[in-house]
Amino acid sequence: MKIIESPEEMQRCSRSVRRAGKRLGFVPTMGALHAGHLSLVKTARGQSDCVAASIFVNPLQFGPNEDFGEYPRTFERDRQLLEAEKVDVLFAPRVETMYPAGAVTSVEVCELGERLDGRSRPGHFKGVTTVVAKLFNIVQPDLAFFGQKDAAQVAIIRRMVRDLDMDVQIVVCPIVREADGLAMSSRNAYLDPQQRKQALALYRALTRIHFLADKGERNVQSLIEAGKQIIVEEPGAKLDYLEIVNPDSLEPVSDLSHGALVAVAAWVGTTRLIDNLLLG
Ligand code: PAJ
Repeated sequence: MKIIESPEEMQRCSRSVRRAGKRLGFVPTMGALHAGHLSLVKTARGQSDCVAASIFVNPLQFGPNEDFGEYPRTFERDRQLLEAEKVDVLFAPRVETMYPAGAVTSVEVCELGERLDGRSRPGHFKGVTTVVAKLFNIVQPDLAFFGQKDAAQVAIIRRMVRDLDMDVQIVVCPIVREADGLAMSSRNAYLDPQQRKQALALYRALTRIHFLADKGERNVQSLIEAGKQIIVEEPGAKLDYLEIVNPDSLEPVSDLSHGALVAVAAWVGTTRLIDNLLLG
């Protein structure tokens, strides 16, 4: 596996891959890799001739009081995991090269970027779309792989790609969970054993909503209340939001007939966790 730090070298490498007529698949990450990330890499491996992954903890998508400083950085372990998955290229740039002095240009997906996590984390999605646009320009992939775990991120990136005519196909991969249902996340590393149990409230809330919807409950407000009740019953968890929205526009829906995204975010101690489920 080739490790590349410089954007120019990555662009050269990508150009030669595409000149050779190969399909380039790309998996952007912030590292601290787990089986969720690796499922994206495996899917990319199956659909591309050449697989590039990136590791970059993007300061732009963290708020001033968020965990940029503590975010787990496990480069050597990540490198080994990617190598074992037969990744061809690992792009791992430095913050100073991604954001040199004087960098003032950003990409913002308005409206969608202010919904769900965008409401609780102002500027977060602007940071995500700016770095993903940069990564797409640097890696120039044919296909880019994202996890359904970050459902709002998927909707926003799809919209950015459409609105800016980016020549990349977005592939979305299902949420990978621990055996007990907790969605895998690099931030699960922050949880102590008691919080790890409390964190299951998110999955329980989604499961409850799924069960009620399956049984025929069609009242969106009742479903939301039933889910919120599960979070409230877990004293270790504090609800940020639980919403049922259109998976493309992220706007609240009032009926479930066209499919809906149930998205939840909650704090367990100082750790903010998200999870979601598609209905219909
Ligand atoms: P990160 O949180 O490292 O996630 C990288 C990719 O892995 C994202 O597409 C995310 O949805 C996916 N992923 C994480 N946990 C998953 C799980 N349990 N199951 C399936 N996929 C999962 O998302 C980011 O980084 C950043 O915002 C990034 C896109 C790299 C831009 O900085």
